[in-house]
Amino acid sequence: MATIKVLQNGPYQVEGDDVSVVDTSGEQYALAKRPFYLCRCGASKNKPFCDGTHAKIGFKAAETALPGGGGGPSKG
Ligand code: FES
Repeated sequence: MATIKVLQNGPYQVEGDDVSVVDTSGEQYALAKRPFYLCRCGASKNKPFCDGTHAKIGFKAAETALPGGGGGPSKG
C-alpha cells in the first residue's frame, strides 16, 4: 500500500514500496529511497521530484481533507 501525504507548504510525501513513478512514455524513474517527495509548487528543477525550491519561493498551501473522507478528486 502506498500513502501520499500532502505536506503543508511543501511537496507530496510518498511512502510505500508498491508504488512507481513513470514518465509520459511509461518509463520508470529510479527511486533510490522511500519516502520520496513529488513537487507540488511547480518550481522544482528536478520535476516531478521536489528539490526544496518551494521553501525558497515561499510556496503556501495548506489544504486539508474534509472530516469523513470528503474532498476527493475531481475529474482529471
Ligand atoms: S514542492 Fe518542493 S520544489 Fe516544488
